[in-house]
Amino acid sequence: MRRALLRPLEPRQYRRSDEANSICMAGMRGLLLDIGCGFFSDKFTFGSDVTYVGLDISNRARDVRADAHSLPLADSSVDSILLVGVLEHVDEPDRVLAEALRVLKPGGLGYIAVPFLQMEHADQDYVRWTRQGFQRLLDAHDFITERMVTNGGFFLVLDYLIWHRFRDAVRRRSPLALALLPAKALSRLLAALARSAACNQYATSFHARVRKP
Ligand SMILES: C[S@@+](CC[C@H](N)C(=O)[O-])C[C@H]1O[C@@H](n2cnc3c(N)ncnc32)[C@H](O)[C@@H]1O
Repeated sequence: MRRALLRPLEPRQYRRSDEANSICMAGMRGLLLDIGCGFFSDKFTFGSDVTYVGLDISNRARDVRADAHSLPLADSSVDSILLVGVLEHVDEPDRVLAEALRVLKPGGLGYIAVPFLQMEHADQDYVRWTRQGFQRLLDAHDFITERMVTNGGFFLVLDYLIWHRFRDAVRRRSPLALALLPAKALSRLLAALARSAACNQYATSFHARVRKP
C-alpha cells in the first residue's frame, strides 16, 4: 500500500538505468556470467538463447557462490559477462576486471556499469569513477568500448538524492517526510521536464558495453 503510494514519486533515475541496462545488454547470447549478480535477474528476463549464471560472494548468489577476484572458471569459457554496480564494492577492481576479461571468449560481450553521484551504499563501498576515469580503466584492461551510456542530469541527481532522504523518513515514520514531500514533488517534476538528461558532470552512473578483442 505504502509502496503503491510512493511509486509516482520514484526517481526517473531507476527507469533510465533500466534503459541503459537494455541498451548495453542487447545481443548477448550463449553463456552469460553475471559477476556480483545480487538480484539483477529479478529485474530482467533473458531470452531462451541465454544461459544465465549468477555469481556472487554473498548468499545472494543465484547459481555460484564465489569471489570475483578469483573466478572458478576456465579461460575464454563464457560468451558474455555482466559486472553491474560491483566494481565500487571490491577490494581490487583491477583484479576483478582482469578476471572478467580472462573468462570471456575473444569477441565476447561485456556490460560494465559504475555509479558516480550516488550516496554511499552497502557495507563495502569504496570508489567512484568519473566517465574519463572509467574509460581509462576499461582501456587499461584492453576492453573495446562499443557504447558508453551516461545516466544523470542535474535535476535527476537532485530528485534522486531527495528521494532517498524522503523514503528513509517515510520508513522511519519521521515528520520530516511530510516536510520533504513538496520538495520531492517539485524535484520529480523538474526531473521529468529536464531535457538534457545525460551529463557527465551530474551523472548518477556510467554504463559501458564492451567487447574482448
Ligand atoms: C550493488 S550490488 C549489485 C547487484 C547487481 N549486479 C545489480 O546490478 O543489481 C553489488 C553486488 O556485488 C557483490 N559483491 C561484492 N564483492 C564481491 C566479490 N568480491 N565477489 C563477488 N561478488 C561481490 C555483492 O554481494 C552484491 O550482491
